[in-house]
Amino acid sequence: MEAHVPVMLQEILGILESFVPSGGNAFFVDATLGWGGHSEAILEKFPNLRVVGIDRDKTALASAAERLSRYGTRFTAARANFGELGELAAGLKEENGGNAIGVLFDYGVSNMQLTAPERGFSFQEDGPLDMRMSPDEDIPTAADIVRESGTDELAGIFRVFGEERNALRVARGITRAKETGDAPDTTMKLVAVIRRSLPAAIQRRMGGNPARKVFQALRIAVNSELEAIPRGLGGALELTGDGGGIIAVSYHSLEDRLVKRTFRSWETEGRGSVRTKRPEVPSEEETNANRKARSAKMRVFTVNKGMVF
Ligand SMILES: C[S@@+](CC[C@H](N)C(=O)[O-])C[C@H]1O[C@@H](n2cnc3c(N)ncnc32)[C@H](O)[C@@H]1O
Repeated sequence: MEAHVPVMLQEILGILESFVPSGGNAFFVDATLGWGGHSEAILEKFPNLRVVGIDRDKTALASAAERLSRYGTRFTAARANFGELGELAAGLKEENGGNAIGVLFDYGVSNMQLTAPERGFSFQEDGPLDMRMSPDEDIPTAADIVRESGTDELAGIFRVFGEERNALRVARGITRAKETGDAPDTTMKLVAVIRRSLPAAIQRRMGGNPARKVFQALRIAVNSELEAIPRGLGGALELTGDGGGIIAVSYHSLEDRLVKRTFRSWETEGRGSVRTKRPEVPSEEETNANRKARSAKMRVFTVNKGMVF
């Protein structure tokens, strides 16, 4: 298990300065706690702030809770899917004495998840084709989806969730493998099938690992990731008081589009203003030091439900 380097940390701390009140009883929600890197830096920088960290992965939650236990009652960890933030909002407000001053979403998987072969997220290490965000969630794994979906269904998943141009070729390759009794049930078997499905010239044009987008697509499908994003943002808006902010860091265009559209529609509805007309991106220094940061885009919404048009 590898630690996770928090992405766009300085930018996020800078933005929070304008949301965090100088004194009083304020709390912030880190809706994707992961390794706890963002939460830790926020707790360090703002001594008056309490942080509630949420994650759907019980293993991530347990290790972050242990790491951050030194902050005592200033930090609490809660296991939940951020898609349920709306349902949790009333309870969180009651426990914490009012509205949150903001919510952070840092989407996708952490390094801890990606580098644990047994979790099945990595196309570089062998493991079971699992990809559930939490190993104990009672949902179909990537292997189940691969085994039980027909060619067209798989092609749809790869096209829509992976924006994979060669979706049909890969789906046909998987069907051929299944017909010979060899349904890919490990990460490396799936990578081999993908490679066999694609002519060498296409693989060269793809650049990088030809399995990347198919893996992204399966991960999104297994965890219903795109459904949780607008629901989670809606819950965050319910939780956050006027003058507070919602920060969302996305790593591919499907995530970013959902954030952009949600923030725009909130602005039109008079719930506040989009602070980032264009998404902010990490510095070159950060992208050189941390590969994961390369695709990051951050959008911020300032909540002001009292706005009148
Ligand atoms: C990129 S990592 C966050 C890393 C964290 N910001 C840090 O600096 O350590 C994303 C985390 O969000 C969690 N996650 C993804 N989707 C989720 C959801 N719908 N609800 C709750 N947690 C989710 C994952 O389990 C993962 O731990």
